[in-house]
Amino acid sequence: MSLAVGVAGATGAVGGELLRVLEERGFPIAVLRLFASEDGAGRKRVFCGREHPVGALAGGCFDGLDVVFFATAPAVSRAWVPRARAAGALAIDNSSAFRLDPDVPLVVPEVNGAALAEHRGLIANPNCTTALLVMALAPLCGLARPLRLLVATYQAVSGAGSAGVEELERELSAAARGEEAAGGGAGPFPERIAGNVIPAIGPCELSRSSGEEVKVRAETRKI
Ligand SMILES: NC(=O)c1ccc[n+]([C@@H]2O[C@H](COP(=O)([O-])OP(=O)(O)OC[C@H]3O[C@@H](n4cnc5c(N)ncnc54)[C@H](OP(=O)(O)O)[C@@H]3O)[C@@H](O)[C@H]2O)c1
Repeated sequence: MSLAVGVAGATGAVGGELLRVLEERGFPIAVLRLFASEDGAGRKRVFCGREHPVGALAGGCFDGLDVVFFATAPAVSRAWVPRARAAGALAIDNSSAFRLDPDVPLVVPEVNGAALAEHRGLIANPNCTTALLVMALAPLCGLARPLRLLVATYQAVSGAGSAGVEELERELSAAARGEEAAGGGAGPFPERIAGNVIPAIGPCELSRSSGEEVKVRAETRKI
């Protein structure tokens, strides 16, 4: 059986990687529709040797699709996932928008794939740190109940999406020209990122946890 598939956020870091994996695994696709922001519409992406146009999200854009992958920011997913479900498609969302919704399965297939059976037209993917963590934890949990976890991650600029990669390239180019890269606020990072390591991801809360730490704790517990 081949599926009619949509990818929202197809021009971004996650969307690009998703397309690469779908192609590599020979995912059975009969129809492929790609979406990005209005600014990104009109571009093309090559999939399985064929150019596909990128369109903007618009009324009726999900009609006839079986599955829509969302690789978009939470606000975009919040606005458009309900429309994909209303059009009868299964939505699979990579953003944090629905991860902690009790009615939405949060799934890493190798760990809790059984939860897929409970979906009502929407499946959420965890934060990338959570996905790796639970893969390592699942076999250990089969042996004993962990009482405490000490977790450290070392993350690439691509975790901040295309804008993160572009900021690093901009700063490295400036350094290669012998210029001091501005950094700090211009891109997605609070400080210069070239040759640097920033010990937090996302805003720090009153609890002194960063946004990333809060997500990892809550999502890991849910899975
Ligand atoms: N990067 C990671 O390692 C990672 C890992 C796990 C989960 N995530 C999550 O996955 C989502 C995407 O992340 P990313 O890193 O791929 O971000 P990104 O590189 O910034 O890509 C964002 C994508 O969303 C599109 N977009 C922006 N505004 C839009 C709008 N109003 N309507 C439709 N499409 C719009 C962009 O299109 P244009 O090209 O037109 O701007 C682009 O295709 C985020 O929720 C992120 O938290 C990211």
